[in-house]
Amino acid sequence: MNSFEFSQNRRRFLRQISLGAALFTLPGAFAEGLLTPRQTEGPFYPDHLPLDTDNDLIIVNDALSPAVGEITHLSGRILDVKGHPIRNALVEIWQVDNNGVYLHSKDTHAARDKNFQGFGRFLTASTGEYYFRTIKPVLYPGRTRHIHFAIKMKGREKWTTQCYVKGESQNEKDGIYRSIKDEKARSSVTIDFAPVKASHVGDLAAKFDIIMGFTPEA
Ligand SMILES: [Fe+2]
Repeated sequence: MNSFEFSQNRRRFLRQISLGAALFTLPGAFAEGLLTPRQTEGPFYPDHLPLDTDNDLIIVNDALSPAVGEITHLSGRILDVKGHPIRNALVEIWQVDNNGVYLHSKDTHAARDKNFQGFGRFLTASTGEYYFRTIKPVLYPGRTRHIHFAIKMKGREKWTTQCYVKGESQNEKDGIYRSIKDEKARSSVTIDFAPVKASHVGDLAAKFDIIMGFTPEA
């Protein structure tokens, strides 16, 4: 397959996956009237953005070697306080690679996986949905597994949070995680990374809905 065909196939694949994500239903978090807790941005938002900032963190541009890690289809919706989807929200994620290293010039404690994009963006449409192909986050010194999120909207301050892996024993020892005192708020950012039944290669799926504490002006 030449690189043009490869990237065409990849685009088709990403489109199919995101259409699949549209069939997911609204989970319980909104029904409980919960707002997603904000969490610190932390020190490792990329100081130099990668050349490729799309929503597939597994392949940088048209590279032939994918990132190392447990492939995860991460999706969810950006919702307002009434449960309506928010469109034109720029969803950004960043996380460590499989060696526990951020895409940041100050993170030099191990060798970085050059095939991992480390950062990605997705602009929501009218359904409020986002989708990323990434890896299940790993532990790094001092933190439990987590993925950073920033939501950027015109005329609003940048809003940041982090999501966590359900069942990870390090969660309870993590100071930033524990700073969310409310049990329900804590569980709203602690999500399942579950095997995709149709996948023969062990892909995972994770769903994280973000409920913002406001209603956008029409
Ligand atoms: Fe972090």
